[in-house]
Amino acid sequence: MIDNLDQGYFGIGIQNGKTPENLGVLWRSAQNMGASFIFTIGNRYAKQACDTHKAVGAMPYFHYNTFDDFYKHLPKGAMVVGVELDEKSVELETFEHPRRCVYLLGAEDHGLSKQAIDKSHHLVKFDTSLSINVAVAGSIVMYDRRMKARLKSATK
Ligand SMILES: C[S@@+](CC[C@H](N)C(=O)[O-])C[C@H]1O[C@@H](n2cnc3c(N)ncnc32)[C@H](O)[C@@H]1O
Repeated sequence: MIDNLDQGYFGIGIQNGKTPENLGVLWRSAQNMGASFIFTIGNRYAKQACDTHKAVGAMPYFHYNTFDDFYKHLPKGAMVVGVELDEKSVELETFEHPRRCVYLLGAEDHGLSKQAIDKSHHLVKFDTSLSINVAVAGSIVMYDRRMKARLKSATK
């Protein structure tokens, strides 16, 4: 049993997401892996983001026009965890997920913006030859959080 008070909460979203299908897959994983909220930044698929999946009716969905807007409205005390294949990123396998955090994924074509990379409190990556699908990447990160939380509560 995962203790919420102990584990805090997380939200997950995409900056400038390109395809509604990927958003739908990500929302479905988010709903199933215990996300507290989902979000999009930028206008590329804002409308479809609301339409793609019933997850949007099941948990809060936020849309931010710009990265600054997103950053200004973060939940108090939440850390931004940028998920990106960047030289500054640490390996997911050894990463300790913050109790309260927001996972931010990059666009299918351009990845995370430089501003997002610079402003993220943490940056994580996992070992792949090339970058993989954004919704799959988000699902891997959420699964890792979930498994580490489970291990932690089992060893208490
Ligand atoms: C298809 S990738 C972006 C590819 C883009 N052309 C680039 O190289 O920046 C979409 C998103 O998936 C995530 N992603 C994919 N593979 C990853 C990996 N191995 N580690 C961390 N994030 C990854 C990142 O959030 C990335 O911005």
